[in-house]
Amino acid sequence: MIAAFSKPVRDLTVKDAREELRDLASQIGYHDELYYNKDAPILSDSEYDELRRRNKDIEERFPDLILKDSPALRVGAVPRSGFRKIQHSETMLSLDNAFSQKDVSDFVARIRRFLGLSEDLSVVLVAEPKIDGLSAALRYEDGKFVLGLTRGDGYEGEDVTANLSTIPDIPKTLQGNDIPRVLEVRGEVYMTKDDFSELNEKRRISNEPLLANPRNAAAGGLRQLDSRISASRKLHFFAYGWGEIIHADANKEERYPLGSQLTEVRDRISHFGFNLSEPICVSNELAELTSYYNDIVFRRDEFPFELDGIVYKVNCIGWQRRLGASSRSPRWAVAHKFPAERSHTLIREIRIQVGRTGALTPVAQLEPVLIGGVTVSRATLHNEDEIKRKDIRVGDIVLIQRAGDVIPQVVEVDLSKRKSTAKIFDFPEICPVCASNTSREFGESVRRCAGGMKCSAQVVERLRHFISRDGFDIEGLGVKQVKSFWRDGLVLRPADLFCLKDQRAVLESREGWGKTSIKNLLSAIEERRNISLERFIYALGIPRIGQKNARLLALNYMSLDLLLTAMEDARDPNGREFKSLVAIDGIGERVASDIVKFFADPNNKMMVSNLVDEIQVSDFTEPTSKSGLAGKVVVFTGTLQLVTRAEAKAQAQTMGLKVTGSVSSKTDFIVFGENAGSKLEKAKALDVTVVSEKEWFQLLETSNTN
Ligand code: IVH
Repeated sequence: MIAAFSKPVRDLTVKDAREELRDLASQIGYHDELYYNKDAPILSDSEYDELRRRNKDIEERFPDLILKDSPALRVGAVPRSGFRKIQHSETMLSLDNAFSQKDVSDFVARIRRFLGLSEDLSVVLVAEPKIDGLSAALRYEDGKFVLGLTRGDGYEGEDVTANLSTIPDIPKTLQGNDIPRVLEVRGEVYMTKDDFSELNEKRRISNEPLLANPRNAAAGGLRQLDSRISASRKLHFFAYGWGEIIHADANKEERYPLGSQLTEVRDRISHFGFNLSEPICVSNELAELTSYYNDIVFRRDEFPFELDGIVYKVNCIGWQRRLGASSRSPRWAVAHKFPAERSHTLIREIRIQVGRTGALTPVAQLEPVLIGGVTVSRATLHNEDEIKRKDIRVGDIVLIQRAGDVIPQVVEVDLSKRKSTAKIFDFPEICPVCASNTSREFGESVRRCAGGMKCSAQVVERLRHFISRDGFDIEGLGVKQVKSFWRDGLVLRPADLFCLKDQRAVLESREGWGKTSIKNLLSAIEERRNISLERFIYALGIPRIGQKNARLLALNYMSLDLLLTAMEDARDPNGREFKSLVAIDGIGERVASDIVKFFADPNNKMMVSNLVDEIQVSDFTEPTSKSGLAGKVVVFTGTLQLVTRAEAKAQAQTMGLKVTGSVSSKTDFIVFGENAGSKLEKAKALDVTVVSEKEWFQLLETSNTN
């Protein structure tokens, strides 16, 4: 971690300088890796710049000691590149987290409510250890391994077949009989703790940057362009479930939903030749599952690989199917995370970060401390109320907690160690970046800068969001480069990225850029001239519009033109268009008004129109939809008898229908249960197709072309 430099450069001996240059090369390499390839920097820009400056100063005084792989000779880490992107046959989801026993019992209660289970039915769960690696999807056709993908953004992953083929745990040919025509096995690629230590030891000796943890080492290993390097990382694989499955004999189709996680998924996958996560616990008693959880927490260190929790899965596959998934995660599984790891350290300083929506976030700069194998030097303090509530002062010793990928947090101040010199933090009322006024909306704890596009932090953060993985995801373009392009006036707004091709000469004159890296960058940008509607909406950086809402908007408006026209019309909060925006299931009044406000802002209008001059936004297509009803709009009203309202809605959404809460001329179907009232009347008046619950399920069945 960043050490206070012990001596001024002029006082260094040759021995000191040699040692320090080696140390700096490894530190800078490590932080470059975090910054460019992991998008998870832990140093502030000035801390990072300080490392580079120090390196440069020492090299200037001791030119004979300049290392062959001096960080001054390169910019950034090796860009991620070279892998074909391929769409997943079924979305690769993630898991919701539970942090307490109460969260787990809430999970079970949600399942009961969703399925409308009577009291005599119990929910049996299968619990298994959650290994901290990265997920992969392996496709087998007629029993042969033909394609292996990373998770990517869940919709499309990278083709890492060659690298996965080097993992001995992955069978090239499925074993046993009764082999499906197509089977996609999903699981986790990981590295053992011992192999990880050995790898880092080798890297230390050869002066290469150290890797942060086994998961990063496995991820890096899987993304090597040279599969010999990938093989040398000694990766492993265990299977946790399956994605697409097409049986050789079509009549078998129906047998599977009747099975259980235990008999169908685990037993069959293991017969095909895969390793599974062990040991498991199968129970419908929360107490029993909790004691299993506690036991694994206790024995966690005995496992040869890193665990970060326990996954509970509903055992009955029929129920799993009915429960389905929300946009991010299945409703039938949850990850009960292990307790966070904690440690005490000093707050050296509090800095304010300004985000893309102008939010001022205080960040504690810490005396670096090792927590669970990761060095932590910063922690978020969320907002000014949080600082007051926890009475956090500069110079305090605080308890820091980190859990998984979550940003480290300050749990509490250790008041017994408070010194009289500890300083109360004055939260700024003007933006520390652009000096504009700031304000807090009524009921909000976030203070925002009013500078908008005048605030350089907001502009840069928007660009950063624009190119982020779930947005335009431009390979080889990291935050650092975008910042420097912006600083030099090359990229001031998103559309400028697409004009960089006209600036080849300027780019080539920049330090650290070679002809090849420029060629790669420009072709990665060209690849993104065609972008899907949902990625485009996400990339705009509209407040409160993450991946899920971006998808909802894309699904409901289908094309950029239609979206823009609708948003123009939705400026009247009492008008029809605003009401139909609010009626989209999942978009509330507040989100709706943020969206409308965004598209009404002249700067944003300009940004969008500049972009569409350069790129093409393709209309929304539902990749997994297999229903002839996809795209239709349905309203449920009254008390449903056959399934719960939540299940009916989820099922319709899975089949690509839009579910809204109010009836309008755009409604295609209204499904009525008992005691349906005014909505049904309105629907009849508007000539909407009216169907009973039973008719609805028949309709779904016949429209399913699966
Ligand atoms: S079941 C939705 N079981 O954890 C996919 N996942 O944090 C069903 N993971 O994306 C996943 N061990 O990559 C499952 N025993 C286990 C797991 C496991 C690790 C990973 C998986 C998932 C991630 C969510």
